[in-house]
Amino acid sequence: MGVKHNIDLSVNIGKLKLKNPIITASGTFGYADEFEEYVNVSSLGAIVTKGITLHPRKGNPQPRVQDVNNGLINRIGLENMGIYPFIEQKLPILRAKNISFIINIAGSSEEEYVQLAKICQNKSIEAIEMNLSCPNVKHGCLEFGKDPDTLYRLISNVREAYQGTLIVKLTSNVSYPTQIAKLVQKAGANAISAINTVKAMHVSLNYNNSKFEKTTIQGGLSGPAIKPIALSFISEIRPVVDIPIIGMGGITYIQDVLEFLSVGANAVQIGTANFTHPTISEQLVDGLGEILIKNNKTNLKECFNRRK
Ligand SMILES: Cc1cc2nc3c(=O)[nH]c(=O)nc-3n(C[C@H](O)[C@H](O)[C@H](O)COP(=O)(O)O)c2cc1C
Repeated sequence: MGVKHNIDLSVNIGKLKLKNPIITASGTFGYADEFEEYVNVSSLGAIVTKGITLHPRKGNPQPRVQDVNNGLINRIGLENMGIYPFIEQKLPILRAKNISFIINIAGSSEEEYVQLAKICQNKSIEAIEMNLSCPNVKHGCLEFGKDPDTLYRLISNVREAYQGTLIVKLTSNVSYPTQIAKLVQKAGANAISAINTVKAMHVSLNYNNSKFEKTTIQGGLSGPAIKPIALSFISEIRPVVDIPIIGMGGITYIQDVLEFLSVGANAVQIGTANFTHPTISEQLVDGLGEILIKNNKTNLKECFNRRK
């Protein structure tokens, strides 16, 4: 007879009750159906959808991605179908899957964020993640996430329009992370996710006619290269907020998950690693369970010496 393990990996993010803390990150897992061939999506804590805007967006022209050492620079530019087609075509599929999902929203104005929040409220969507941090679109997102007054007003207005679990996704490209994090909590967010991609540039040089000619690609850096930035950001904001933090940035191995949990993340998101290891999210759920069993623990709180 096999040994019975009473492992509890569950975490609460606002009103969301997740069976485990492994979530797939926005823009790296589509709307889940694209990954069903590789992953039993119902084994995951939750999935976050690709960023959705009020109107459809074509995104940026090619090239949109560039491999760099230990990472990826992307300038997709939030290509998506827009909220209404999403509701018609994708929402019913997500709902039929019996998984927790979080809708990632992005606006190019405060009004657009509020409108998106109202639509999500009307459709009884359980959780939204406000992207206030996308470095590769011309208007919106990152700029909202950097200015404290705008950020506070924006989140407060979205909070008023939406009663579900409100997660605010932050950039590390700010001078005062603790000030921003405190404002996010004060404005009524139920959780913070951090970090989005980091503003970056790749340069290719060609020697031509006795001169160097350069081509560049500017966008957001993701993958293992940003893990130390993410860990530092989370450990800085953890002491100043009580709400859950969802950590991300380069997570690829179980050791990475443990490091994020140890600096104060309550859950984690897996992004770029989905491209290189499509089965990774499910493997990390299994890996976390195995760690608890190996260490004779029954839940995550017993593993980390933390108050939040
Ligand atoms: C190709 C690509 C598309 C992304 N699209 C979005 C998006 O639409 N909205 C968003 O909030 N973050 C988006 N992100 C950021 C990721 O969700 C995540 O915050 C970031 O990549 C850091 O995690 P990672 O290093 O594990 O990838 C995208 C990242 C990549 C690589």
